[in-house]
Amino acid sequence: RRHVLGLEDLSAAEITTILDEAARFKEMARHGEARHSLLKGVTICNLFFEPSTRTKTSFNLAARRLGADTVDFTAAASSLSKGETFIDTARNIEAMGVDHMVVRHSTSGTPFLLTKHLGTGVVNAGDGTHEHPTQGLLDLFTIREQRGRIEGLTVALVGDILHSRVARSNIWGLKKLGAKVIVCGPATLIPAEIRKLGVEVSYRLDEILEQTDVINLLRIQFERQRGAFFPSIYEYAQFYGMTSERIARAKSDVLILAPGPINRGVELTPDVADGPHSVILDQVTNGLFVRMATLYLMQLAREQALTSP
Ligand code: CP
Repeated sequence: RRHVLGLEDLSAAEITTILDEAARFKEMARHGEARHSLLKGVTICNLFFEPSTRTKTSFNLAARRLGADTVDFTAAASSLSKGETFIDTARNIEAMGVDHMVVRHSTSGTPFLLTKHLGTGVVNAGDGTHEHPTQGLLDLFTIREQRGRIEGLTVALVGDILHSRVARSNIWGLKKLGAKVIVCGPATLIPAEIRKLGVEVSYRLDEILEQTDVINLLRIQFERQRGAFFPSIYEYAQFYGMTSERIARAKSDVLILAPGPINRGVELTPDVADGPHSVILDQVTNGLFVRMATLYLMQLAREQALTSP
């Protein structure tokens, strides 16, 4: 694929290829082979219009570990403030010899729009409430690494499903690889149309605890709430927060994931975040290898497209 815009677009085989390639990079790093020259001469631009810690840093590191040149675009300090359009901005950056754009934007569909105006590869680093495919991939990678499989597992996505691009990428990826997916949260944060994606819906975390192998705790996206947040964060923490009491009632080997950033004391208590069931920092480590695999495979596809008649 020249572009990675969402897990909805990828087949199970394509997802597995990325996960396998990421595993290969991780294994090589374990044996001291962390740096490569596979993307020597390639330039990758991070085009972020929303804040990021994990995604931006790990795309940067991934590109450098593969030998690519990287450039960071900061919207606030750019000529966008002088009235230059988004597309003109992207085309000017492309004109400097950029091969791939890593794009995060608050508007769903922005990465797709860029593919219509640019000749570069485009990877979606989170677009509005649509998708965050590399987060979905690193979640799949972490679950597969910990459990040895995805197929047959029951995975609960708990929290702000309405605003979560991570939820949508998880749902597409998990369903394609054969997991059962339950979305759980207050009715105000679960859109009715989510059932069309083949998931079960639960409004009570306590009712699904015993049947889940993996619980992915999605952040309450306070920045995307319109008007007052309902329920209150205190009620949310009481009914949906992961605590050591709830862990004690779950499967003994339940995995706790969270895409980060986490709101300690809201989606989960600090003892759960830092406890033995949590693989939250493993997810971050794996994100580096998943992004290396994504960029490498995109560059292979770009070279094929440039050389094919
Ligand atoms: N999980 C995630 O996308 O984190 P950042 O917003 O810090 O990139």
